[in-house]
Amino acid sequence: GGPRFTMAVRSNVNVSVAPILTKLQKECAAPLPVLRNVADAMTADMRAGLVVDGGGELKMILSYIDALPTGNERGLFYALDLGGTNFRVLRVQLGGQEERVQATEFEQVSIPQELMRGTSEELFDFIATGLAKFAEKEAGKFHLPQGRQREIGFTFSFPVKQTSIDSGILIKWTKGFSVSGTPGKDVVACLNEAMERQGLDMRVSALVNDTVGTLAGARYWDEDVMVAVILGTGTNACYVEQMDAIPKLQGNKSPSGRTIINTEWGAFSKGLPLTEFDIDMDAASINPGEQIYEKTISGMYLGEIVRRVLLKMAEEGALFGNSVPEKLSMPFVLRTPHICAMQQDYSEDLQAVGSTLYDVAGVESSLKARKVVIEVCDTIVKRGGRLAGAGIVSILQKIDEDSNGAIFGKRTVVAMDGGLYENYTQYRRYVHEAVTELLGTEISKNVVIEHTKDGSGIGAALLASANSKFDHDY
Ligand code: GLC
Repeated sequence: GGPRFTMAVRSNVNVSVAPILTKLQKECAAPLPVLRNVADAMTADMRAGLVVDGGGELKMILSYIDALPTGNERGLFYALDLGGTNFRVLRVQLGGQEERVQATEFEQVSIPQELMRGTSEELFDFIATGLAKFAEKEAGKFHLPQGRQREIGFTFSFPVKQTSIDSGILIKWTKGFSVSGTPGKDVVACLNEAMERQGLDMRVSALVNDTVGTLAGARYWDEDVMVAVILGTGTNACYVEQMDAIPKLQGNKSPSGRTIINTEWGAFSKGLPLTEFDIDMDAASINPGEQIYEKTISGMYLGEIVRRVLLKMAEEGALFGNSVPEKLSMPFVLRTPHICAMQQDYSEDLQAVGSTLYDVAGVESSLKARKVVIEVCDTIVKRGGRLAGAGIVSILQKIDEDSNGAIFGKRTVVAMDGGLYENYTQYRRYVHEAVTELLGTEISKNVVIEHTKDGSGIGAALLASANSKFDHDY
């Protein structure tokens, strides 16, 4: 992608597309000073959110986790994962220090669109039914003592105000969910009721955000993991915090003196380079004014921003000739996987770009137009990746400031998960570049961004184990 087409586009393109592109590139630019500003503002916001709930845009949610996985965890556990486009169930047999993860099995189903906008009962019945089917298939393969209740780590990847390790109230839906009746309710109670309706006798031992599950899962293998980040459909981060550094924390402090904070950084908005396309997309969304950082950098939205730009270019700059393709005015027809596929097209005639545009929007495109499309994708993805990098640095510098430079002096691991980071080569590169620019080459050598695919499932199971009601010495 990137600069290799800039000259060609500038000199050949239809005169009326060029100004739109130039303006877009200018408004989306995130040079180092902008990134630094974003990182510093986010660090300050984190501090404000630790003092008092609502103190900043970042919610800085207490996870009620007071012990990180040690490797000693034993027994059979389930994990449930609801949070993006898919719903997952997982079963894992933990074997302690020597055996570690002895066996895992999982199933995944995509969540039907109508359930994302239905009622709470329908959604939780769907989850409980999936879980029941999966649990039935356990017979004989795994070891669970007779009569023992099965325990679940429940990864629920939305902003939840935790009230304990195994309960929490949904603050609001994000990522296109708008299920009625859940906000304000304890999601574990919702699941319990649905399990009862299914005649399923299982117990949620830990309710966790996907970032928290990812951190726990990665920490199980690597003690240097301090931060976990999701760059997928949505985006968020959590990190290991000293309890003494959380003024709003009242009550018992754990012996370890540490806990995990779920930042919910998707809600951040200060100092972001935004365009008319972002503002229009936000206004048309089901949660206007909310999750602005998420809407600028995460997978659910990147394709949609690009679509809005292309539509304007078609309307005002005749990008696709004299007609404006009708399908291009449909919100969300162009998805992030499409723009990712287009940016991986390294062919001379941009064949794959052409066929994607044709499949998605019914558009016949010239080579010139395809080059412009690539430029637009790259502009939006570069801004997203660089701003994500600034977010990562904001957390690292918060930890470092509080520990008198103890972080940047040694190996520190950021556990990363999410399809956007995993699949989008250019995006991933922009994230890394921004982190390196902000930290400098020396320090950034110590910062390892480690992709931990699906770590959150095992992580949730580990946390279920740590908070189990039962002995697991078998
Ligand atoms: C959204 C949710 C958050 C989650 C993130 C990544 O931002 O609010 O809880 O961690 O998406 O899935």
